Amino acid sequence: MYGELLAAMMPDRRAHSLAVGRKVTAAAHIAPKSQRSDLVAAAYLHDIGYCHLQSGFHPIDGAQFLAQQGFSRAVCHLVAHHSASVEEAKERGIDLSVFDEFGVEEDLGRAHSVLWWADMTTGPTGQDVAVVDRLSEICSRYGPDDPVTRFVLRARAKLIAAGQEPTGSIQVSF
Ligand SMILES: [Fe+2]
Repeated sequence: MYGELLAAMMPDRRAHSLAVGRKVTAAAHIAPKSQRSDLVAAAYLHDIGYCHLQSGFHPIDGAQFLAQQGFSRAVCHLVAHHSASVEEAKERGIDLSVFDEFGVEEDLGRAHSVLWWADMTTGPTGQDVAVVDRLSEICSRYGPDDPVTRFVLRARAKLIAAGQEPTGSIQVSF
């Protein structure tokens, strides 16, 4: 699914994206019916910003790319906000107004819970991992001084909660 868009990705990241997409597909029934197809699209494409970098902040770069491609506001919102990206923006000193263009009226909380859970329990090559191992791996891959590592430490409690289950163990509010 979405093979053409994912083809631009590095193989490992593509494998991660495909695994998150499949995991979310299997759990999509947790989200309201009307949001499931958008949720699945967002899952496969949540990291697409890495191969369409504009600002260098991949959640927003991905959402902008997908908006240009004609994806729905819900898909763009899910991608822009995936896996505590607001906390990463704060760590990087990014003005949070970058999220404004991806606002939605509907409550996507349960869809976010499924996506965050899948992302936090899928390793960098698509393998199943426990969330604590996922966070440790990210920190060692990026190293102690990288903003990604600082973000993971800052958002650790939120990310660990997200990785427990797909059914909304986090309260997502935007
Ligand atoms: Fe991501």
